[in-house]
Amino acid sequence: MTDVLERLRGIVGAAHVLTSTGDQQAYVVDWMKKYRGVALAVVRPGSTDEVAAVLRCCNDAGVTVIPQGGNTGMAGGATPDGSGAQVILSLTRMNRIREIDPVGNTITVDAGCVLATIQQAARDAGCFFPLSLGAEGSCTIGGNLATNAGGIAVLRYGNMRELALGLEVVLADGRIWDGLQALRKDNTGYDLRDLFIGSEGTLGVITGAVLKLYAAPAAKVTAMAALPGRAAALALFTRLRARAGDRLTAFEFMTRNCVDLVLKHASGAVAPFAAAPPAIALAELSDTDAEADLAGLLEDLLAAAVEAGEATDAVIAQSGEQAKALWRIREGISEAQVRAGKTIKHDIALPIGQLAAFMDDCERVVEAAYPGLNFLVFGHLGDGNLHYNLQRAPQMDDDAFYALTGPLNALVHDLVHRYRGSISAEHGVGQLRRDELPRYKSVVALQMMHDLKQLFDPACILNPGKLLQS
Ligand code: FAD
Ligand code: MLT
Ligand code: ZN
Repeated sequence: MTDVLERLRGIVGAAHVLTSTGDQQAYVVDWMKKYRGVALAVVRPGSTDEVAAVLRCCNDAGVTVIPQGGNTGMAGGATPDGSGAQVILSLTRMNRIREIDPVGNTITVDAGCVLATIQQAARDAGCFFPLSLGAEGSCTIGGNLATNAGGIAVLRYGNMRELALGLEVVLADGRIWDGLQALRKDNTGYDLRDLFIGSEGTLGVITGAVLKLYAAPAAKVTAMAALPGRAAALALFTRLRARAGDRLTAFEFMTRNCVDLVLKHASGAVAPFAAAPPAIALAELSDTDAEADLAGLLEDLLAAAVEAGEATDAVIAQSGEQAKALWRIREGISEAQVRAGKTIKHDIALPIGQLAAFMDDCERVVEAAYPGLNFLVFGHLGDGNLHYNLQRAPQMDDDAFYALTGPLNALVHDLVHRYRGSISAEHGVGQLRRDELPRYKSVVALQMMHDLKQLFDPACILNPGKLLQS
């Protein structure tokens, strides 16, 4: 191992091979503080060639490698195991915006670029990069690609897979695949790019990407609607989409418990309605035409929704500051959950039309089996994606609650499966869902995934034990 460390120091420089416990602290624990590991070293390459040399060295020595970006993932995919024999490959030094092409409407970036930096670079060029999520100030585009991240603008622009045109990837044996095309069309065979997107660091290390840019929205309006119940959320969503079409860029849903949690734990969060409704929808319309009367349109739609009983009240933000305050409630939920204590999380996708029926069924099933749990249900309703999270009943201690993880996952996910949904909508599989995958994915699908892993990484050095059972 000393020999490997010496070789790694020779590749990236001694200052970028972190071996002390103190230096490694931020890299070996995940954002939720659910997973904790130990690493042989954190290696911080500064270029694609250095990534290639590091992987060649580790592949030759049989040392396993955990690719890591901003370490904000929610499936434990970037955390090493407890052996102390794994290398964390942190991409954060590779943070260059390589090129912006205003005619092709693309931006080419290093994989370690922070998402917010890319959004800003696009804005500075008079364009727009739409991926947006709560961790955007610290997650990297490499991590977004590796998890096929979603967020709050998927409804209009699609998830990460739909925002990428080309990739640069280093394979396990150190070969570099330059797939950095900026093409909108390319039918020359298998889609290698899409294999790496969503592969969670198990097939290759993404070092660069060409991303799509869009025309910047010039008008925007944000509103919150108080909902009488879950079915109303779907009715309101359908109403807004039917009239606003593509201008409906976000439609988020949260139950009262989530709002209460944010109000309790996030400083500066203000209750949007005097009387707390059972659920709230947050909708955003945007348009590239600065003259578009989005506020008028939304006001009409919300008035009609109140008239039809789909909403009981609504507030439309009158300024950018007010819009931010409404978003703060939605975006504050993740952080508030961490502060409130242990949470058993489910990141599920369902056919949109069945979301209300699912929520009714699931609450009934969970409540019957484990009475008194606190339901924190929120998410990207317009994408059919719910964060179906549970916290302990008041009389339970943390350990008793955590012991329910397996049975609760089975209850929730079996029902998701019956609805032909997915047990990971946007966070990935990592180590969190790895052992559940065989229960819900077909034997044929799993076999193809194992075959691909074997082909790309025969020595199994890339993120072993994540996504697939080794
Ligand atoms: P990491 O956590 O470092 O890694 C995630 C996975 O990608 C790991 O398996 C890792 O091995 C792999 N990986 C990282 N970089 C590379 C690379 N260059 N090449 C190959 N593999 C790599 N997700 C959503 O989809 N939607 C949301 O709305 C959303 N909201 C969030 C809100 C908060 C507050 C937080 C903390 C997280 C949220 N997430 C959300 C989770 C989301 O997956 C991550 O924030 C982000 O996509 C991960 O990026 P990262 O750079 O932090 O990746
Ligand atoms: C979000 O949408 O806020 C995150 O993806 C969800 C979470 O914290 O579970
Ligand atoms: Zn989410």
